[in-house]
Amino acid sequence: AITMAARRGKLIVFEGCDRSGKSTQCAMLTDRLRKDGHKVEQLKFPDRTTSIGIMINNYLANKEDQSDEVIHLLFSANRWEQMQKMSKLLLGGTHLVIDRYAYSGIAYSAAKGMDLHWCRQPDVGLIKPDRVIYMTLTGDKASERADFGGERYEKKEFQAKVEKVFEQLHDPTYWQVVNGDGSINEVHEDVFKIVSEVISTDCGPLNKLWT
Ligand code: TMP
Ligand code: MG
Repeated sequence: AITMAARRGKLIVFEGCDRSGKSTQCAMLTDRLRKDGHKVEQLKFPDRTTSIGIMINNYLANKEDQSDEVIHLLFSANRWEQMQKMSKLLLGGTHLVIDRYAYSGIAYSAAKGMDLHWCRQPDVGLIKPDRVIYMTLTGDKASERADFGGERYEKKEFQAKVEKVFEQLHDPTYWQVVNGDGSINEVHEDVFKIVSEVISTDCGPLNKLWT
């Protein structure tokens, strides 16, 4: 019989524009779940610690140029290089809380005018999240937050285009929108409610994205 302990971990992904509060909420959620006795790990994409991640970091810091296609594929490869580790953790019962995923990959590239269908292909077959928490902010809140504008994509007009693509990618079967306007604690409570429900549900075997 399937015991509670044999249940796999859940893949929870946070998405949204720059400075929407994803990193803060990922950290708070991970702490809370750990305190509640769950096995949980926090990851983020891009993972700037790998060789590919260093190339991505140089691109974002405007230290290096890449063609739109190349940087898109590097972002995707930066996810693929974590798939084995992620699947091991999930199957071993560890929940994963991830700051950005393939949806950012598509949204930021398509916002440049690249073909959306082309942009999706390299990420087809990644592990599918059990829940995507899409963080939104009203009006100009993001651009008013500390450090906005430091990296390549942190421009108000560009972020508005990114948001449009996220809205196109929104899949109500596993996405949930969380408005990030409130206090950090208020937003955390909204997030925690959603995630508690996902964690207590049996989501079956791991699925592949867009297959
Ligand atoms: P970060 O601010 O979450 O570290 O992400 C760095 C930037 O990279 C951010 O502007 C979003 C962008 N990005 C992409 O363009 N493609 C991707 O696949 C990912 C994960 C992020
Ligand atoms: Mg950023």
